[in-house]
Amino acid sequence: MEDIKNIDTVDIDIEEPALLAIDQRLLPNEVKILRLKTKEEIYDAIKTLAVRGAPAIGVGAAIGMYVVAEQLAKDCKSEDEFFAAYKEASDYINSSRPTAVNLSWALKRMEECLDSRRGESRDTQLLALRDEAITIKNEDIEMCRKIGEYGVELIHPGDGILTHCNAGRLATVRYGTATSPIYQAHERGMDIHVYCDETRPLLQGARLTSYELFSAGIDTTLICDGMSASLMRDGRIQMVIVGCDRVAANGDVANKIGTSMVAAVAKYYGVPFYVAGPGSTIDMSTPTGRDIVIEQRDGSEVTDKWYERPMAPAGVGVYNPAFDVTDHELIAGIITEKGILRPPYTEALKKIFG
Ligand code: MRU
Repeated sequence: MEDIKNIDTVDIDIEEPALLAIDQRLLPNEVKILRLKTKEEIYDAIKTLAVRGAPAIGVGAAIGMYVVAEQLAKDCKSEDEFFAAYKEASDYINSSRPTAVNLSWALKRMEECLDSRRGESRDTQLLALRDEAITIKNEDIEMCRKIGEYGVELIHPGDGILTHCNAGRLATVRYGTATSPIYQAHERGMDIHVYCDETRPLLQGARLTSYELFSAGIDTTLICDGMSASLMRDGRIQMVIVGCDRVAANGDVANKIGTSMVAAVAKYYGVPFYVAGPGSTIDMSTPTGRDIVIEQRDGSEVTDKWYERPMAPAGVGVYNPAFDVTDHELIAGIITEKGILRPPYTEALKKIFG
């Protein structure tokens, strides 16, 4: 099994400007680094989940826009032409996936950075974009590290920890969000056991989370999505930690489809359900979970993907939302880089991120 521990999930090549990204569509069987340069390549990588996970999408888009700007700077004569082409490319990449707020958050930061350099030389503008993309990447690493420091305090030796989807290092630049406390507990020598939901239909839990935790030497068990209730009932899970794609101002959380079911079951069995997420995933302009746009994906991901032959009758109706919303009442705490937020979330979020 190839080790990805020392590779940043998304990175920048400053010599020959390109977005470097681990192609997550091929994991765990092959580790391949993509070199992405055009807006079409970047859009496609995000849409098809080569680059995925809310923070990694944001950092990837920021680096991607710097790379695209390098080419646009060569093609455009006037500043107005350059700025218009930049905005058009940014809007296009922003349309690749709707739910993770990190995408629009990072693109907005990059656009504001360029706008603030209006009237300056093209070289200065490009340098500013490059620095901003690197800053966004470094901030992500730092936020995830801090989430680990706060989150590890919730873990006790001997704990069984359930996670859903992949909110691991592959969903960020390094460390992950939900996995960052797990990595820190492991580094401290704590005896913990992690259960990974396989996460239908795209199997991020099986292909990515169980891969990265298992290859890091963490005691890991892969389970099918419907199995966690029986493990909770048997007392084998002491806590749940998941990531998030958007946290609304009232603490409702959008995350991978299936998350809200885990949260409801955890509540029933008295298992604390935690969400880990950086400030870049908190969206104070979205009042509640009902206002979050949920991405709908092609039904073939449910019926055909990963199988040699279709596993459902041709033509059957398929519903394939990529995310769901977990109501804030089900969440015991939101682990951020600024501390662990507790209910009532409207007040807690406003105080720290308002
Ligand atoms: O469709 P994906 O694989 O991009 O969905 C990812 C998730 O739902 C993650 O849990 C979320 O982005 C948090 S990543 C730290």
